[in-house]
Amino acid sequence: MKYDVTVIGSGPGGYVAAIRAAQLGFKTAIIEKYDVLGGTCLNVGCIPSKALLDSSEHYHNAAHKFKEHGIDVTGLKVNLKQMIQRKRDVVSQTNGGITFLMKKNKIDVYHGLGSFVTKNKIKITKLDGSHEEIETDKTIIATGSKPITPASFNYDKKRVITSTEALEIEKLPKKMVIIGAGVIGLELGSVFARLGTEVEVIEYADRIIGGMDKDCSKELQRSLKKLGIKFHLKHMVTEVKGTSRSATVKFKKRDTENELEIKADYCLVAIGRYAYTEGLGLENVGIEKDDRGRVKVDGHLQTNVEGIFAIGDVIQGPMLAHKAEEEGVLVAEYMAGQKPHINYNLIPGVVYTWPEVAAVGQTEQQLKDAGIPYKVGKFPFKALGRARASMDTEGMVKVLAHKETDEVLGVHMVGPRTADMIAEAVAIMEFRGSAEDIARMSHAHPTFTEATKEAALAATGDRALHM
Ligand code: FAD
Ligand code: NAI
Repeated sequence: MKYDVTVIGSGPGGYVAAIRAAQLGFKTAIIEKYDVLGGTCLNVGCIPSKALLDSSEHYHNAAHKFKEHGIDVTGLKVNLKQMIQRKRDVVSQTNGGITFLMKKNKIDVYHGLGSFVTKNKIKITKLDGSHEEIETDKTIIATGSKPITPASFNYDKKRVITSTEALEIEKLPKKMVIIGAGVIGLELGSVFARLGTEVEVIEYADRIIGGMDKDCSKELQRSLKKLGIKFHLKHMVTEVKGTSRSATVKFKKRDTENELEIKADYCLVAIGRYAYTEGLGLENVGIEKDDRGRVKVDGHLQTNVEGIFAIGDVIQGPMLAHKAEEEGVLVAEYMAGQKPHINYNLIPGVVYTWPEVAAVGQTEQQLKDAGIPYKVGKFPFKALGRARASMDTEGMVKVLAHKETDEVLGVHMVGPRTADMIAEAVAIMEFRGSAEDIARMSHAHPTFTEATKEAALAATGDRALHM
């Protein structure tokens, strides 16, 4: 078979690139190593983690908030097996959705490991060892990422685990130790803490969610402490060992020699992910990687080999599904001769804890470092009627605007439904709007979004109305 475009990897980058390429009239193939389509995001990432976050939040609300709402519940208990089964059902429905989209767009799907034989020939090796070859004019590498598991952590997939295994635990652990207070550690830590597991997090840096605005780290840590999560910041792990029933983590404060130890049912390693290119045969075509093992691309996401592009987690930039999707669309449109563009500064980042954290644009520290004059407006959720009505009063919205021009440069939120609320900030910033623009827009009352308007009012002067 001969194709105009072949996509290797069916995650949100790959399958979206394939759909856009097919829409633009290219004869398109997609190759996926596993039996199911959707990649990390759909099978062991975004979707299953959000399914469990939602289920555990229902339980937590029933256990801790219903009474105050005037709802008495007796005999409440967690059925983790059913929770995991529902998560699997959500995943498999979504798998089916992607298969449908491939058929609808007449995209040929190949299951097997894709590897370059030459620039225009790709070998597909199936699980049983059999293989076939297809020819292609252009190729998009969308092979994603895998969890980082240092050798000294003795990752055994049983007691020393990554997010992939954590999403399949069917018996509630009594205790879990998590290495890394990043997005995965805090989302999955929240799931288990809400269900009643004792959770301790060991983090090398001096704050949680280190890449986000400092105020967000502070607000979220306060909420997660209330949930019962214990944090060991500025600590480094020296060794992790698993047995058939438990995991033991040895660690110490960054600047002392005193060794500490925690024994738990599981140790979840969540210290980042690396670009995945194993078995892809990059060396057969001379594709270059950067010093962090990511496929090197230019401004059009083309590798050093003409006609071969790369997108998503396997290249530089935030490891986010929506970033991968934007890049998939960009490459397909660029191939078709269009002039697409991505504003990387405006890719929002979200942590789906409760309260949720959502941000877009620059942090206060980044503005300080760049010497950009700015002003700050903050508004706490506890001052909102809507938040009090729903008992979701933790967190705040922070708007950063240019001191002279008033252009919005960053918006940082911790609070209820901020994952959805951040879209307003992205839209305003795409149009290079000002804090005054947000402040003058009518926001429905009573909604959580009023916090954004109030923070914008605060940024434009001392004009917040409800504070
Ligand atoms: P992937 O989704 O990793 O897909 C790559 C695919 O390529 C895989 O299916 C793989 O099997 C296949 N493949 C690899 N090599 C080959 C080969 N040689 N031949 C054939 N196939 C191959 N991001 C968000 O934006 N929001 C979230 O809420 C979120 N939650 C997450 C939760 C967890 C627990 C994890 C682990 C990640 C989460 N992410 C989230 C990150 C998100 O999953 C990734 O950014 C996204 O999946 C990257 O998409 P991708 O298409 O680049 O790669
Ligand atoms: P991360 O990069 O978010 O966080 C890793 C954390 O581990 C950092 O705080 C880091 O300082 C710490 N760390 C690193 N090495 C350490 C060590 N040896 N000891 C102690 N701490 C150490 O990585 P994470 O959480 O694994 O997530 C991987 C990727 O998946 C992220 O880049 C994220 O973009 C994506 N993701 C996105 C989600 C979302 O959008 N909601 C949800 C989950 C994952």
